[in-house]
Amino acid sequence: MAKQKTTVGTIDNEVLAFTAGRDVELDQALIEVDCIGTAAHVTMLSKMKVEPKLITEDERRQVIEGLVGIIGQAKHGKFKIKLADQDVHLAVERTLTQQLGDLGKKIHTCRSRNDQVAVDLRLFAKQELLAVLEEAAALADALTAFGKKHEDVPMVGRTHMQPGMPSSVGLWATAHAESLLDDCAVVLNAFELNDQCPLGSAASYGVPLPIDRQLTSDLLGFSRPTHNVLYANNGRGKMESLVLGAMSQIMLTLSRLAQDFMLFTMPEFDYFKLPAEFCTGSSIMPQKQNPDVCELVRAKASRVKAAELGVYDLIKNSPTGYNRDLQEAKELFMEGLATTRACLRILTPMIAGTKVNKQKLIDGFSPDVFATDYALELVGQGMPFRDAYHKVKENLHELSTIDPVEAIQKKTHLGAPLGLDWGYFKSRSDAVKEAVKEERKGFNRAVSKLLGIKYPVE
Ligand code: ARG
Repeated sequence: MAKQKTTVGTIDNEVLAFTAGRDVELDQALIEVDCIGTAAHVTMLSKMKVEPKLITEDERRQVIEGLVGIIGQAKHGKFKIKLADQDVHLAVERTLTQQLGDLGKKIHTCRSRNDQVAVDLRLFAKQELLAVLEEAAALADALTAFGKKHEDVPMVGRTHMQPGMPSSVGLWATAHAESLLDDCAVVLNAFELNDQCPLGSAASYGVPLPIDRQLTSDLLGFSRPTHNVLYANNGRGKMESLVLGAMSQIMLTLSRLAQDFMLFTMPEFDYFKLPAEFCTGSSIMPQKQNPDVCELVRAKASRVKAAELGVYDLIKNSPTGYNRDLQEAKELFMEGLATTRACLRILTPMIAGTKVNKQKLIDGFSPDVFATDYALELVGQGMPFRDAYHKVKENLHELSTIDPVEAIQKKTHLGAPLGLDWGYFKSRSDAVKEAVKEERKGFNRAVSKLLGIKYPVE
């Protein structure tokens, strides 16, 4: 059987490929954060008050220089993770050892790869979640702008998909915007829980040397270290499932939005027209303009949920401490985040370019849509509601059409078609954007200081 020598032992080739799995490719996305995590760890080692020193100040500088070099290579796709490395962690150690000799062999003092992958994924999640929030706020803004533009365009409000009451395009669009803003609150919550530094747990149980976990956490710009070192490892998988849970909330909103678009752009409705460049044609039917983007968003909501459930299932029976099963969560995690982001990004310009057919929306009103309004008019004249309800129900065929534009003008209370507070949507979206800006600034400042270069690297 062919064997391969790795940094951590000789292993059968097939076993190496099987156990490394997709890490060699997926870890490409973790090179930068892995180097940043190592920079913090080595800096902390250099500050430890032990004699002899584990790492001297000069050694720290050399390691950081090596790490900055790797970050630069990675930016240009030049840093290679080999199968014999198994993953990014050992690829970085191998490279530093090639460059710095024995010094490279010191960087793993007081830590394990479990520490590294846990911190890498949290740093990765941090950046991804900030991007998600930014993209979600942009989509909420696009929906709000669409709603504002068509604030007084009437639209039949439906329940059970059947015509119900007079509503407006503004109400429809901002319902989705508000849903997305609530999703941002869920994402911020996930962000806050993710924002804890797991470094210093070693294999899960701590080390018999006085490492400073608060310092590594501060150096990396985390809000705090996780407390229990065993939970630092047990938290892997749980953090991913939590983040993916937030992503699937976003996808729930997007899927329903996409579904509405598919319905209301059907020729039978023709309320909205998607921009032509967001539709695809057919290979046989020359007339086709299909809403594939919306269909795929709907389908991707299932995939993101599947990723969340996949991670959940991987860990739910996983015993305490690190288990290799966790490695399988990485792909689901990265895919779930990337998919959510892609959906957010594709829908924003689609909404901005969507046309509204006011006449078709007005034509959609039949007299029965005003039945409740008639009943409430009778209530206004003093009739008890149930009597008014029956009176209208018995005379449905005699109802005349009210001008739907006028009908919605009367719905002015809080959150109703003409009672929408546009400042409410703006301030919630602005708060999300502000939080992203602050978090990014704090993180970039911490990493710039740690690496002694301007971060992010251009
Ligand atoms: N690639 C591994 C993972 O994602 C890194 C940690 C390996 N740790 C270990 N104890 N074998 O889980």
